[in-house]
Amino acid sequence: MQEKANIGINRFQLNRLSQDLHHDSLIEDVQTGLSDPPRSLPPKYFYDERGSKLFDQICQTDEYYLTRAESSLLENHADEIVSTVRPTAIVEYGSGTSEKTEILIKAANQHHDWLHYLPLDVCEEILIESAERLIERYPWLSIDAWHGDFLHDMQQFENTHERSLYTFLGSSLGNFSYDQATRFLSDVRNTASDNDWFLLGVDMVKDQRILNAAYNDGNGYTAAFNLNVLNVLNRALDGDFDTASFEHHAFFDADRSRVEMRLRSRCQQTVTLRGIDLKLDFENDEHIVTEYSRKYTADSIQQLLKKAGFTPLNIYTGSKNEFMLILSRCST
Ligand code: SAH
Ligand code: AVI
Repeated sequence: MQEKANIGINRFQLNRLSQDLHHDSLIEDVQTGLSDPPRSLPPKYFYDERGSKLFDQICQTDEYYLTRAESSLLENHADEIVSTVRPTAIVEYGSGTSEKTEILIKAANQHHDWLHYLPLDVCEEILIESAERLIERYPWLSIDAWHGDFLHDMQQFENTHERSLYTFLGSSLGNFSYDQATRFLSDVRNTASDNDWFLLGVDMVKDQRILNAAYNDGNGYTAAFNLNVLNVLNRALDGDFDTASFEHHAFFDADRSRVEMRLRSRCQQTVTLRGIDLKLDFENDEHIVTEYSRKYTADSIQQLLKKAGFTPLNIYTGSKNEFMLILSRCST
């Protein structure tokens, strides 16, 4: 379903991909994911307004190197990327604050005096806030923002611009299972035309002390971000989760090449979600898996991209080999 809402600024349009984005899928996800152990929740529910702000704070911590590493790769290679692609439009999935994309947006303006930006995100507040900032800064930019779920609403997303640069930054691909990643990349490939390009940012396998620190920052922002999902459930489903009765737990699982983030019950307890008439019994130490964050190698990510029909052209890793940006053609 697509409802268009012009929110009053000529160069900014907001498209809604579904009427009540969260509610129906949330009920289903809670019933299937939380009813019985092993319990899990999809990570998209982290991102209410507070969750998005907490994520932004995580990105500024010393421990969460990912954002700094990717920003520095973009600062160093944006000119080369836009000279290769010469995009008239930049599409971004899971755009968040769009701060790193802004580096590409500025660089693209050297080649065209008008640029279209199409951010898609599940958090409406952050979409609007970021679009307003960009519109004010860049008079040559128009924004067609999409509020929706990139795992479920891709068929309804439309882009009519030629030579588009599709982007998926911030290591968000790492939050998908192997099947979801394969399906998502194929959806991007099917949305794009043969002369479009795809820029993907993923985190790399590294020393587990660095990875463990990145997901256990000393300021406690990651813990607050993780626990906040319980507030989201309480609000949406009239629940009585007590955030103090759960604790954040995150660790790198080297065998599966991913960080696993959990919420662990500090005691035996029963939680009630009155909105859906559901009672959840937790044992002491029993957990909910709230996120996986997969770390890639150059080989593993290229294999996935090729499988989805992309041709990887350049891989930028910088001297520290912390993070990868992969620029691919959307054709084989
Ligand atoms: N790309 C930004 C933000 C990464 S955080 C960066 O690199 O810093 C992940 C972003 O994806 C958040 O803004 C979140 O709201 C969005 N997101 C998470 N799951 C989503 C989903 N299923 N569909 C659409 N957006 C989603
Ligand atoms: C958005 N995503 C790629 C982040 C990550 O690193 O997996 C979310 C996050 N979770 C904890 N810290 C940051």
